[in-house]
Amino acid sequence: MESHKKYVATTTHDPEHLPLVIERGEGVWLVDVDGNVYLDFSSAISTANLGYPTHPEVKKAVLEQLEKIAHAAGTDFFNPYQVELAKKLTSIAPGDFEKKVFYSNSGTESVEAALKLAKQSTGRNYFVAFIGAFHGRTMGSLSLTASKPVHRANYFPMMPGAVHVPYPNPYRNPWGIDGYENPGELVNRVIEYIDYWVFNHYLPPEEVAAIVFEPVQGEGGYVIPPKNFFSELKKLADNYGILLVDDEVQMSLGRTGRMFAIEHFGVAPQIITLAKSLSGGVIPIGATVYDASLDFKRPGSHSNTFGGHALACIAALATLNVVEKLLPHVQDLEGVFRDELGGLTEYRGVGDVRGLGLAWAVEFVKDEKTKEPDTKTRNKVVLESLRRGLVLLGCGKSTIRLIPPLTMTEEQAKLGLEIFKSAVKSVASTSPL
Ligand SMILES: Cc1ncc(COP(=O)(O)O)c(C=O)c1O
Repeated sequence: MESHKKYVATTTHDPEHLPLVIERGEGVWLVDVDGNVYLDFSSAISTANLGYPTHPEVKKAVLEQLEKIAHAAGTDFFNPYQVELAKKLTSIAPGDFEKKVFYSNSGTESVEAALKLAKQSTGRNYFVAFIGAFHGRTMGSLSLTASKPVHRANYFPMMPGAVHVPYPNPYRNPWGIDGYENPGELVNRVIEYIDYWVFNHYLPPEEVAAIVFEPVQGEGGYVIPPKNFFSELKKLADNYGILLVDDEVQMSLGRTGRMFAIEHFGVAPQIITLAKSLSGGVIPIGATVYDASLDFKRPGSHSNTFGGHALACIAALATLNVVEKLLPHVQDLEGVFRDELGGLTEYRGVGDVRGLGLAWAVEFVKDEKTKEPDTKTRNKVVLESLRRGLVLLGCGKSTIRLIPPLTMTEEQAKLGLEIFKSAVKSVASTSPL
């Protein structure tokens, strides 16, 4: 860790609470350089969703492809591999319309492509995004990101024209509405906020290219909005000819029990962004799937070097086929997480437990009534879990995300949940109410 600090750029490590130096991975287990074995509830930030190093079917496909070609300059020369993946992605993405795919290497790039598509196809330049959102760290996507001030500090100005509005967070929102008890009221407040307070006062809706959102906020705290939110948002957007950009980088491809998290909400956005788990974590790949009518109008309008990388596309195709088979398993495990975590709100300091599929979150607060975030306790639980052999990651101000590989067995999931609960109970400020 000291050598890392000396030679590698400062990024997001937290050596105090997550001092994990990984040597290798075996299925759902991570092994550190001292030989300690950990159960993984992080999936390398929802990327190694098929476990480590990857699923045997993906490994086989990748090794076979390596015998043919890896990089084939997919944006300048044609290759069949990117076409096969695009056929697959456009057939499974929601929406009964023709679609196309732009390939890149990361989540932030798939968002940048979405912004460019929205700008050039609508001729409009404003964007609406949500407080709590994370869309990446390059200058365009960063202008939409709004989950932690540190992401944006010292980088002003970013892309101009991004306006942020409250996300319908059922647990904490500016209006103090209990969105679990009154989801309709929460949705109405957010829609009214955009339509009346924003569009009617300072942001001309006819100049808004797109509303960009995460179907479930990830980095911002694994926040699940009410069921009817996106259908109401779509009505509002359609009213003004505004596109919807659905950032599925963290939540797609089985994480929530569906291929796309937006399927839980019954809406078909015009643009969807993907990355992270798309190739099972083996090779970086990003993809922007969009309504074909929005396509770039001239060659050179947008492109890159690695887009349509043959090996990445083959890894992604194999990954998608495995994930499709795993969906019923993820849906079954959702019940295990719900049963095992439900009782935690009985503990002092645990404010909220929420989840879908294998995307679960536990939020820590200093006081159940004021809901003041308790970052310290959250960090202690992450460290204590690691000591007990479970790898977890924080998100939001005081939340822990529990996101195991989709390949985890019920027995392994129960073991991890037991370790997590014992760590929560052992941390000083948490005791039964
Ligand atoms: C929803 C979402 N969008 C975009 C990104 C950016 O992805 P990347 O880190 O690959 O650029 C992330 C990363 O966590 C994300 O969760």
